[in-house]
Amino acid sequence: MNAVDIGSLAVNFKRGASPFSALDLEDLRVEEGECFGLIGGSGSGKSTLLRVLAGLQRDWSGGVRLLGRSLEVKRAFTGSLRREVQMVFQDPYASLHPLHRIRRSLREPRQINGLPFDERSLIASLDQVGLPGEVLDRFPHQLSGGQRQRVAIVRALQLQPKLLLLDEPTSALDMTVQAEILNLLQARRQDTGMTMIVVSHDIHTVAHLCDRGVVIKQGRIEQRLDRNGLIERADGQAW
Ligand SMILES: Nc1ncnc2c1ncn2[C@@H]1O[C@H](COP(=O)(O)OP(=O)(O)OP(=O)(O)O)[C@@H](O)[C@H]1O
Ligand SMILES: [Mg+2]
Repeated sequence: MNAVDIGSLAVNFKRGASPFSALDLEDLRVEEGECFGLIGGSGSGKSTLLRVLAGLQRDWSGGVRLLGRSLEVKRAFTGSLRREVQMVFQDPYASLHPLHRIRRSLREPRQINGLPFDERSLIASLDQVGLPGEVLDRFPHQLSGGQRQRVAIVRALQLQPKLLLLDEPTSALDMTVQAEILNLLQARRQDTGMTMIVVSHDIHTVAHLCDRGVVIKQGRIEQRLDRNGLIERADGQAW
């Protein structure tokens, strides 16, 4: 089964009097268990696509199936899709409540989804991304950008998603931590069979993680890349 099956997908935003086409895609499929990369310049529509797939951008047209279910325009996700699809945002400030301590930001999604909350296993998960247990008592503004990003990754993974949408997941991390997080994500995907869609400016990150991908330009698919295509493109581009 395809985890994501887009027959067509268009998103228009208002810009002054005329509509602006942020996304106009056809024929994009991501297989279950696959890591799929979205590459493209700033403003090309990468985050917009992930926001549609996360159920956050609900004004779109086309035909989109996610984990075997058809999405409905202007409808929030219901039922198991709310847990099964998780997104790590480009700006983790946007996803962590500024007035809630990290403990609460991690506990509440589990409780809402009927999963037990066990502080010890949570501390073990934080340790996997190189964070000490004491971050649980802090507020988001008391963490660095890279620490927030890692909290957001723990928060998404702890819900055992079937589809994980990662928007520049390691952009705020230094090279060493970045490699650790990417390896963790890869290992988790291999263990659980979850599907990942990774947005990155950095072709090397995508080539390291992904089986296939597309280059998006001005909301359209410019190029489709298989594993070799990703590697070739990364080799042609210096770090
Ligand atoms: N809510 C919105 N209202 C109007 N225009 C928007 C909105 N969200 C995004 N856009 C526009 O749509 C286009 C695509 O934006 P998007 O955030 O998807 O780009 P991106 O590829 O993620 O870029 P970056 O790499 O900088 O994050 C941009 O021109 C952006 O200005
Ligand atoms: Mg973006």
